[in-house]
Amino acid sequence: MALIDPVLLKPRLGHLAGRFDVDALDECDSTSSELMRRADRGAPAGTVIVADRQSAGRGRRGRTWLSSPEASLTFSLLWRFPGPASRLSGLSLAVGLGLAQALEGLGVAGVRLKWPNDVLIQSADGVAKLAGILIELASDRRGTQAIIGIGLNLAAPSGDFPLPVTGINRACSSPPDRHAVLAAILGNLAGILEKFTVEGFFCLKSEWQCFHAWQGQMVQILADGAAPQIGRCLGVDDDGALLLESASGIERIHSGDVSLRPAGAANA
Ligand code: BTN
Repeated sequence: MALIDPVLLKPRLGHLAGRFDVDALDECDSTSSELMRRADRGAPAGTVIVADRQSAGRGRRGRTWLSSPEASLTFSLLWRFPGPASRLSGLSLAVGLGLAQALEGLGVAGVRLKWPNDVLIQSADGVAKLAGILIELASDRRGTQAIIGIGLNLAAPSGDFPLPVTGINRACSSPPDRHAVLAAILGNLAGILEKFTVEGFFCLKSEWQCFHAWQGQMVQILADGAAPQIGRCLGVDDDGALLLESASGIERIHSGDVSLRPAGAANA
């Protein structure tokens, strides 16, 4: 039996239980790939696939996503929006905000967001990644479907990672059980996604910036095939673009990996 039991989840979702159809699997290739196949067969919005193990978990920018059954919560949520994908700018930030608010509500300390959609924990030891989000869109004449994949560390994973990683167990005095975590995230996302559908990212911008890890700090942007850009991070624009101030003015950044400016890097 899978570690998530949909029967135990239902009461925790309360009045929102009817909005979600949760299937818990022992294993699949990737919860996002499995959900995509079900979406192609007509699965409704609100379908959730959660799996203990993924044999081919996917991360952003073509990376692999590794997780372990006991220490991770890995799931994907199907949502549908009216209109084309171009109307969904800022969606990944909105999802990050939903995740951050849910975690904070569960008592997780030091939750921060890294543009575009990593969830970090800030502590005396510095910042470390707690969760990653991968959103995949597909549009047709009826609108746009989003497969929202979330990988969250319940316990800090061991092993070598390019950046420090952490888990809820290190940021919470009494860590909640996985059913409480999943229910809180789904409940929060339902509200955020509804707001986003009606008003766009604009109405969530200031809340996102309250969680922003590097607001006002010097950062470096690395994007495929481009020289690193360094500047002061002014936050995000109404559509979710990152605002980077450098000697040449304020630039809107649409993609790339952002990190704090390394010591010794040239000023902008
Ligand atoms: C990132 O690179 O930070 C995003 C990671 C997203 C991983 C999740 S785990 C559940 C879902 N299924 C996948 O294959 N990927 C996403």
